[in-house]
Amino acid sequence: MSTSTPTTLTPVLSAFWDDERSWSMDTYEANQGYQALRKALVTPPAELIETVKSSGLRGRGGAGFPTGMKWGFLPKPDGGPRYLVVNADESEPGTCKDTPLMMAAPQFLIEGVVITSFAIGCDHAFIYVRGEVVHVYRRLMRAVEEAYERGYLGKNILGSGFDLDVTVHAGAGAYICGEETALLDSLEGRRGQPRLKPPFPAVAGLYARPTVVNNVESIASVPPIVLHGADWFTSMGTEKSTGFGLFSLSGHVTRPGQYEAPLGITLRELLEMAGGVREGHELKFWTPGGSSTPIFTAEHLDVPLDFESVGKAGSMLGTRALQIFDETTCVVRAVDRWIDFYAHESCGKCTPCREGNFWMKQMLHRLEHGTGTEADLDTLLDVCDSMLGRSFCALADGATSPVTSSIQYFRDEYLRHLPSEQNPRGGCPFDPAASVLFAPAAIGA
Ligand SMILES: Cc1cc2nc3c(=O)[nH]c(=O)nc-3n(C[C@H](O)[C@H](O)[C@H](O)COP(=O)(O)O)c2cc1C
Ligand code: SF4
Repeated sequence: MSTSTPTTLTPVLSAFWDDERSWSMDTYEANQGYQALRKALVTPPAELIETVKSSGLRGRGGAGFPTGMKWGFLPKPDGGPRYLVVNADESEPGTCKDTPLMMAAPQFLIEGVVITSFAIGCDHAFIYVRGEVVHVYRRLMRAVEEAYERGYLGKNILGSGFDLDVTVHAGAGAYICGEETALLDSLEGRRGQPRLKPPFPAVAGLYARPTVVNNVESIASVPPIVLHGADWFTSMGTEKSTGFGLFSLSGHVTRPGQYEAPLGITLRELLEMAGGVREGHELKFWTPGGSSTPIFTAEHLDVPLDFESVGKAGSMLGTRALQIFDETTCVVRAVDRWIDFYAHESCGKCTPCREGNFWMKQMLHRLEHGTGTEADLDTLLDVCDSMLGRSFCALADGATSPVTSSIQYFRDEYLRHLPSEQNPRGGCPFDPAASVLFAPAAIGA
């Protein structure tokens, strides 16, 4: 995609969210719903996997692993069960795409589940939903019921001889249960904690059987790919980050919401469509893919939002959760809140994460409230160094992202929280009760 051509939106999964009762089966069928399944059921499963491979679809759950390749890792059928598990846990701070998708057009996911199950030889699929989102759970239950009523689930689907049952499971609400192996433990009825890998889920997943775990948006993208072809999908996005995705704009933006666009679009383009940063304010920092991805600043407005370019610029595309913070936000306060979250959600299985998050929380708290020291910044970086790549799962890696990147870009702002002549008691210069000298405009933040 050329950066000089303005990029436009590409509504596919969000195409009819504004329709009357967009979530109903009638609306879905009126919008080509289940036509991809009819096509898939007369296609050899290996060919379906090949189509998804050549589409270049990469996992939409954060890590961006190629979806078709993941399906291809399953061992040859041995007569025993194999499972598809959809990760609908969506708990990353700022991430809010799967929930609206499941509320507005849940049949995309159900049709994707049926096609994927047919392709990988699964006759029982699971959708693991975050427990607190009762409205999503209810909507999915109804969507599954409707699919059974119309013959898209159950025995002998559309006369093809293929059988599939779907179970919607509500978790108890823990961020760690979004990590795929913790999710599998939780689904089996155990406490959700990550498993040692290998074996990977493809070999020994749910109930120790071959299992594919995919994100909601990844699976929902399968029907359009099957219906329109791999070339249609690769005609959008960039060479290595093909297709479209939901970009979720939240925070200090005029029109927050879901913007479905080709990968490689920039925040500048998205902000133009979203009416810009809220009136009278300017961009200070933002996350490209949720709180676990290093923050960016206004200098990154033109970074193409694809896996490679965001990585090259020092962050990660993650879940395309674009949280926008204007100049009124105290970066230390924001990071302190995020680390509260990680310390709370750490499952405690490994020491660097359990202890590291606990101590980072203490240090950030005292920095925010004016009792920290400059040495705390070095200790914070030291703790991050002990956590990054040295913990059992990626929760700990994610927790270091906001800390290291905020110190990289806003070290001065951390220092302005320390007691000084201008700020004798120390603490947040953004606090309205603080000296007028420290009003955001005055400090040029
Ligand atoms: C702490 C943690 C939380 C995660 N939460 C989610 C989640 O809510 N949804 C999700 O799809 N992936 C989540 N992931 C990533 C999954 O482990 C896994 O990579 C993903 O479900 C694979 O699907 P995909 O290949 O379709 O992206 C999380 C990972 C970690 C380490
Ligand atoms: S990194 Fe954190 S969340 Fe992951 S296993 Fe270790 S303690 Fe648990």
